[in-house]
Amino acid sequence: MMTNDVLYRIRDLVVEYHTRAGILTAVDHVSFDIRRGEVLGLVGESGCGKSTLGKALMRMIQEPGRIASGELWFDGMNLMQLPPGEMRKLRGSRISMIFQDPMTSLNPVQRVVDHITETIRVHQPQTSEKAARARAAELVDRLGISRNRLDDYPHQLSGGMRQRVMISLALALRADLVIADEATTSLDVIVEAQFLDLLKELREEFNLTILLITHNIGIVAELADRVAVMYAGRMAELAEVHELFERPDHPYTRGLLRAVPNIRLDDAELYKMPGSPPDLVSPPPGCRFHPRCPDVMDICTRQAPTFYENKPGHFVNCWLYQEREENVSLEEASS
Ligand SMILES: Nc1ncnc2c1ncn2[C@@H]1O[C@H](COP(=O)(O)OP(=O)(O)O)[C@@H](O)[C@H]1O
Ligand SMILES: [Mg+2]
Repeated sequence: MMTNDVLYRIRDLVVEYHTRAGILTAVDHVSFDIRRGEVLGLVGESGCGKSTLGKALMRMIQEPGRIASGELWFDGMNLMQLPPGEMRKLRGSRISMIFQDPMTSLNPVQRVVDHITETIRVHQPQTSEKAARARAAELVDRLGISRNRLDDYPHQLSGGMRQRVMISLALALRADLVIADEATTSLDVIVEAQFLDLLKELREEFNLTILLITHNIGIVAELADRVAVMYAGRMAELAEVHELFERPDHPYTRGLLRAVPNIRLDDAELYKMPGSPPDLVSPPPGCRFHPRCPDVMDICTRQAPTFYENKPGHFVNCWLYQEREENVSLEEASS
């Protein structure tokens, strides 16, 4: 059941990578909420900072990266202040991440059943080996993997089955939040559809909150309640899914939607947005989208707009919708 209750509150998050070319700001003052029980889609072209943001929410950014500043409030807990041990526990229990290639998260020398029973017993140490095994069998059943695959090693499974195992681990943990980063990208279309159906069922049944990171707008249309659009490390737009598809405000979102096959079948040729996302070591001044924007105005080249709620529940980061004078003073006030 979807409510407006906030599970994860992210404020002014900045994530940097210290590279030889200089400081690369992959996530730049990003603020948004993840509501309890929702599927929030996170879209944007490759290199816009989606994976970095997902990892930052788990506090899993590694060298040469770091969270430079910002606030992470998960279920009322201040994660930026949480000691590493506590954070590890939280990662192993309440927040779980599924990656494109589950082989990187699964232990190649551990059988499927051991992955699941171990996860169950970390979460509930009092569970007997036998009870954990029974629960593992139930879980894989539920996910449509036959029980006799429990003794297989990860490499013996298909990509789709490995993703199901990853989901079963999240369920074994009874995670509140699952962050799925391009989790279906390596699957073929039919297996992908099955996996998405399964996610839909499970979110209801287990009351999961899902951050669905993907470059595939079709998947978001299918599964998400709300959609966040990221461009060059910043939030461009965030709205309820139908609102975003029917009334996209940000020129970047409009470009992304135009480039999706099947949405506009009357287009003879598929639109391709000109240009590509900028180098985040030295992004363009002002609005980072301005060099590619069909609606660019003078101010866009000089000053960044603010990500703000333009209509109820609909946030946009674009000068087309902002009072300039008002915003100049806002910027001054916050600098
Ligand atoms: N480990 C890293 N070291 C240096 N730069 C990185 C690292 N990981 C990601 N980046 C850079 O951060 C930016 C955002 O990357 P990423 O978060 O992977 O975007 P997305 O998931 O949207 O494709 C890119 O410019 C990428 O090159
Ligand atoms: Mg990515």
